[in-house]
Amino acid sequence: MDRIRIVGGRPLNGTIPISGAKNATLPLMIASLLTEQTLILDNVPRLADVVQLQRILGNHGVDVMMSGKRSGDDEYKGQTMHLSAARIVDTTAPYELVSKMRASFWVIAPLVARMGEARVSMPGGCAIGTRPVDLLIMALERLGAAIEIDGGYVVARARNGLRGGEIAFPKVTVSGTHVAVMAAALAAGTTVIENAAREPEVVDVAECLNKMGARISGAGSPRIVVEGVAKLSGARHSVVPDRIETGTYAMAVAMTGGELVLDGARPELLQAALDVLGRADVEVAPTNRGLRVARNGAGIRSVEVTTEPFPGFPTDLQAQLMALMSCARGTSRITETIFENRFMHVQELVRLGARIHLDGETATIEGVERLKGAPVMATDLRASVSLVIAALAAEGETMVNRVYHLDRGFERLEDKLARCGATIERVSS
Ligand code: EPU
Repeated sequence: MDRIRIVGGRPLNGTIPISGAKNATLPLMIASLLTEQTLILDNVPRLADVVQLQRILGNHGVDVMMSGKRSGDDEYKGQTMHLSAARIVDTTAPYELVSKMRASFWVIAPLVARMGEARVSMPGGCAIGTRPVDLLIMALERLGAAIEIDGGYVVARARNGLRGGEIAFPKVTVSGTHVAVMAAALAAGTTVIENAAREPEVVDVAECLNKMGARISGAGSPRIVVEGVAKLSGARHSVVPDRIETGTYAMAVAMTGGELVLDGARPELLQAALDVLGRADVEVAPTNRGLRVARNGAGIRSVEVTTEPFPGFPTDLQAQLMALMSCARGTSRITETIFENRFMHVQELVRLGARIHLDGETATIEGVERLKGAPVMATDLRASVSLVIAALAAEGETMVNRVYHLDRGFERLEDKLARCGATIERVSS
């Protein structure tokens, strides 16, 4: 299993290209099941989760083709993916595949909408909490699907097709909103989704679906209206830039010092996180190609932050902010409200010398002068990258184990950082 070795203490300087967003790419790929024509996605990141979802879609009969890299192409330019679900050969998503990636459960929506039936394994627990699917099931029921749980599988049936309905989510859910929008796109009549997730990835998927002929309005607001259509067609769509990758590198340079240009970033997609960095005395400025983030000399000021659905501070940047605050002046407080168990990085940051006290959903971080390298490991993607950031600023060597978590969601992480002056390398074993 690969590991990443980091020798900390060097500032980051240079330009980092921002990749297409993982959390937009996955539902966009799943949306290809809604049409028999070809969906072409540009700016697709090279990630293990993307490869895994290709496998899962292949099992349903989707033909996936990646455009070859042409000579002269910038190696960081995202890939182009052609997805063709001309014929769906299987409406079952088996446990062996779904258990490897939670988001694959979302295939239930296009499968039942287009084929009238789907049999999808329950995803099971995962490292950041129980993450149930009750609200996804509720949304499908509101659109007329009959749901049965059978042997660990959710079986959804709508022999005569789905029909539009009212879906009011009791809490904001990204997965629930994706499922509701995809299913409603092919339902007969109008669907109104209240308390919808407003995340940029929801907007990106709705834009793509509209290019495919769907009639979705209000994406990005808490009320989405979908007028169902009988059929969707192919389309071409470029994946929105990854706001979590952007925020992660912004926090990395805030921690190490130096200056980074985050090329292709869209600052408006992470305004809440940039405001927090501003309050922490980090210099943040939009440029015509993205975002410039710098810290020269001055220290980091402590902050109080609570994670919230978009447009609030994202849970997917909580671990990275905690790494940063571990070296701030004074005491910071970070409260996690989205997932009940998303603090696995705390014990590992403590191994690097951080002073963090956990009380329920709030972490209190007492800033220290300096962290010190150590062997660490983490059990989820964002926790792992928080350890990388901390290691970049720590004195001496850190070995980050279980690198496969990073490969799930960060394209060429060590390469991007090494080009900006970090001492970081992958050690294969
Ligand atoms: N929830 C329910 N019932 C449901 C669905 C969700 O109770 O049926 C709860 C969850 O347990 C959680 C909250 O609602 O407490 C929010 O969950 P949500 O559905 O919004 O999360 P998700 O769609 O499963 C996506 C991202 C996550 C990101 C969250 C929140 C993808 C593939 N995943 O998850 O990303 O943290 O939204 O923004 O888009 C990551 O990339 O590392 C990651 C975990």
